[in-house]
Amino acid sequence: MDPILVTGGTGTAGRLVVARLREAGRDVRVLTRSARPRADGVTYVTGDLTTGDGVAAALDGVGSVINCAGANGIHEQVARTLARSAAAAGVRHLVHLSVVGAERVRVRSRFDRQSFGYFDEMRHGELAVEGSGAAWTTLRATQFHDLIATAAGFLVKSPVVPSLTRMRFQPVEADDVAARLVALVDGEPHRGYVEIGGPEVLPMKELLRQYLDARGLRRVLLPVRLPGAAAASIRDGANLTPDHADGTRTWADFLTGGSLAARAAAARG
Ligand SMILES: NC(=O)c1ccc[n+]([C@@H]2O[C@H](COP(=O)([O-])OP(=O)(O)OC[C@H]3O[C@@H](n4cnc5c(N)ncnc54)[C@H](OP(=O)(O)O)[C@@H]3O)[C@@H](O)[C@H]2O)c1
Repeated sequence: MDPILVTGGTGTAGRLVVARLREAGRDVRVLTRSARPRADGVTYVTGDLTTGDGVAAALDGVGSVINCAGANGIHEQVARTLARSAAAAGVRHLVHLSVVGAERVRVRSRFDRQSFGYFDEMRHGELAVEGSGAAWTTLRATQFHDLIATAAGFLVKSPVVPSLTRMRFQPVEADDVAARLVALVDGEPHRGYVEIGGPEVLPMKELLRQYLDARGLRRVLLPVRLPGAAAASIRDGANLTPDHADGTRTWADFLTGGSLAARAAAARG
């Protein structure tokens, strides 16, 4: 079988995708900005999806691509560069990872952009994939447990913790997302969207309460109502996918059992 290229294969989701592909005995290539040899049976190649440097070489001889690369401010460029290059290289299937709500969270004002511009950026990335000529499937995932835990860890540094009123989240285990990406890549390109969310929808207040309990912390939660169209659309559930609550791990289980992504990172060194 031709090699599979995993872009973002050093990140939270990508590392888990790589581990699953390797377990299945697949030939895996990872594009990273800083390739170094590692004894894990994976070929690491240097490339940058903002400049395009190294991307054509990374795609040479590749059958399919799973894209887990991205960072704030460059999501659209990363998606565009990769998708166009994949189309030019004749890749059979590009599976792109995006976010639930990319199309539904309404980013209108400067305040919306400052607070929730991420969703708009991700939508532009999706559109770049759609228009690239590549054979594609986009998986939209909700927020990973790891991300929510990082955000909560930051917020609880203060004795008074802002809790966004009426906002709910559906955190998902990154490894459940990785499993879906791997399952999709061998199938036919959907030229459309697939969604995955965690098994439960929880108000932000409840996510924080469980986080504080698990860490043995006591904090005052301060209800904060954010203005703007983006916040209103999230209060209406634009970031949720209750019909695709396919994730297997709950927030409570993650808090007590630890992060699979963190364990994979530690194991890889
Ligand atoms: N985290 C979440 O809750 C969540 C939820 C839904 C969707 N998503 C989306 O899923 C994707 C992966 O998320 P993640 O949390 O796994 O990300 P992450 O841990 O932050 O990893 C980002 C990856 O992107 C790569 N990257 C960054 N800039 C790059 C560039 N210029 N060229 C090539 N590669 C570059 C990094 O590789 P190197 O540093 O090795 O170059 C790294 O492997 C992102 O697009 C994210 O928006 C995330």
